[in-house]
Amino acid sequence: MTLDSMANKPFPKIITIDGPAASGKSTLGKRLADELEYLFFDTGVMYRAVTWLALQDGLEIEDEDRITLLAEGTDIDVRAPSLDDGRQNDILADGRDITWQIRLPEVDANVSLVSSYGGVRDALTIQQRRIGQRGKVVMVGRDIGTVVLPDADLKIYLDASAEERARRRYHEQCERGEESDQAQILGAMRKRDKFDSTRAVAPLRAAPDAVIIFSDNMDADQVLHTALQLVHQRSL
Ligand code: DC
Repeated sequence: MTLDSMANKPFPKIITIDGPAASGKSTLGKRLADELEYLFFDTGVMYRAVTWLALQDGLEIEDEDRITLLAEGTDIDVRAPSLDDGRQNDILADGRDITWQIRLPEVDANVSLVSSYGGVRDALTIQQRRIGQRGKVVMVGRDIGTVVLPDADLKIYLDASAEERARRRYHEQCERGEESDQAQILGAMRKRDKFDSTRAVAPLRAAPDAVIIFSDNMDADQVLHTALQLVHQRSL
């Protein structure tokens, strides 16, 4: 199948990709968006932005009320990358570029808790819907097909075993020259999976109408190919 063979058919306008940490959602989302000339929008960056701003402001990370106010009062924008420094998008909080700050380890350590706050989710869901409903978007997260855009045209749930995801994350970190410990990554990943999938609000789970891709024995090209086949099948 080539994109040419799909040229006369409209593609699904909204494609959602949900799944656990390090399942390859961002890689697939970015490549799929590039193929289709859609906006790639990784919604995790919004939870990361609120977490980083809360830490900057010296807020207690357990202070749900103040962090919710912060989320409600901050305009977070996701735009096409303006710099060629490895970024997938520009992330702006009230106009300030915080693209790299949101990847700091202290954000990793606190973002799960912040993303479990109902008020924070409500505020960010509104911002995500506004961007998603413009269409021509590949939107990546944990609850996009279930909560944010339940009427999306194509929903993918990208999964892999915790062991495989830890292995991939380990290799990514080694390639960047960072110190890394695969057993430690696996432990942290299991903990985060459990927290994300058992939280009261918008827990991580596949939408009933999502197509599940289990990628343990697939490389990134095979995952992209599978997703493109789904796009083709859903084309009206
Ligand atoms: O995908 P990520 O690691 O950048 O996500 C950061 C955190 O935000 C992670 O704990 C899951 C959470 N998240 C969420 O709850 N809902 C989303 N739509 C996206 C991310």
